[in-house]
Amino acid sequence: MKILVIGGGGREHILCWKLRQSGMVKKIYCAPGNAGIAQEAECVDIPVSELEPLVDFAVKNAIDFTVVGPEAPLCDGLVDVFKARGLKVFGPDKIAAQLEGSKTYAKDFMRKYNIPTADAGTFCDADKANEFVNRKFNEGAKGIVIKADGLAAGKGVLVAYDAKSATDFVNSCFKGTFGAAGNRVLVEECLFGEEASILALCDGNTVVPLASSQDHKRALDGDLGPNTGGMGAYSPAPVVDDKVMAVIKRDVLDNFLRGVQQEKLYFRGIIFVGIMVTENGPKVLEFNVRFGDPEVQAVLRRLDSDLLDVMLKTADGRLSEAEMKWSDDPSVCVVMASGGYPDTYEKGFEITGLAEAAATGAVVFHAGTALKDGRIVNTGGRVLGVTARGRSVREAIKNAYAAVGKIHWEGCFSRKDIGHRALARECNK
Ligand code: AMP
Ligand code: GLY
Repeated sequence: MKILVIGGGGREHILCWKLRQSGMVKKIYCAPGNAGIAQEAECVDIPVSELEPLVDFAVKNAIDFTVVGPEAPLCDGLVDVFKARGLKVFGPDKIAAQLEGSKTYAKDFMRKYNIPTADAGTFCDADKANEFVNRKFNEGAKGIVIKADGLAAGKGVLVAYDAKSATDFVNSCFKGTFGAAGNRVLVEECLFGEEASILALCDGNTVVPLASSQDHKRALDGDLGPNTGGMGAYSPAPVVDDKVMAVIKRDVLDNFLRGVQQEKLYFRGIIFVGIMVTENGPKVLEFNVRFGDPEVQAVLRRLDSDLLDVMLKTADGRLSEAEMKWSDDPSVCVVMASGGYPDTYEKGFEITGLAEAAATGAVVFHAGTALKDGRIVNTGGRVLGVTARGRSVREAIKNAYAAVGKIHWEGCFSRKDIGHRALARECNK
């Protein structure tokens, strides 16, 4: 089969790497790809926003199956365009992608289908939103969460612990900091607990969770510093024990499927649920309609089955026939980022030590890299995902950091405490 993967980050690198292990694959293309993906697939220079050129490429090259990585092309309707040309594609259509693209759409869906989540109000003007914020703090709320209602590259959310920072953020949303995404905001009850990521396959008939995982969203050790796209992940997430997982399946995933069916949504892809495990049980923080990154890097390193087979069955509406075997060995992904990320950073520095890192047994997935004059250089904020397995979390962490220690470019940094929560639980056993 000829496969087209759309995207150019760490998520798409591990998708290409894992898909290539399938005996059914003849050739993989990736648009636009990156320097690491080029080792697994033929990179095609078409941006993910160019839907017509992408579908023309797929038709011209007789692509059998297309896998969409990022949320933006899903929200733009890539699946609709490919389906209209008779092409098989993995992902939800434009209407279903609103579960990620619009936080008010997602909140209404959760309320309608009894999916546990934080209480929230929706506001289209700053004064009313600020009045609500002030009232909540006066009533004794310990925090409040403001969310711009659209795709904002992970930057449209603030967890505020005082009224002033909350109202400042509300005002900046309505002043256009996040473009159209800030014309409407959600003001949400703040939940407390431990976060986990549940990625699940859904084909409209069945929903099947993958192994659990946990991200590290803050830039600095000890979960300090600004929010990022994710600085590292591990799988499984011990906070999601069997009891918690059973509740997530019943209250979140089964209700999600019921909603998909009743709303007649076309959803043949991944639903990624951000969960807060609170003292009152798991609650949904957000829906995303694609694999989480770096979570996917930790999760798929543990999948011992043929990913292509599973994805094809999802796209065909035969997910119930798919088999997924998971390794018991935990895995850890440490993200290496450019100095200054998530703010401004310099690009174009040569990355050294990649072969030495691979020789340790870890797999290095590229997120923001390019080939320049025969050298691999950094081109993004998050640059590499260094992913390793071990017999225990401790060993997986050790293995991942042994590989991280071999890699260098000017200004590079990574968190030194990826996996700390799982490690603490392992030590307390
Ligand atoms: P979202 O894009 O909605 O997932 O929000 C991004 C991050 O903000 C989440 O991963 C959480 O860390 C945090 N967050 C979102 N909603 C809440 C909430 N209701 N209570 C506490 N933290 C939240
Ligand atoms: N790691 C979180 C995300 O992919 O949105």
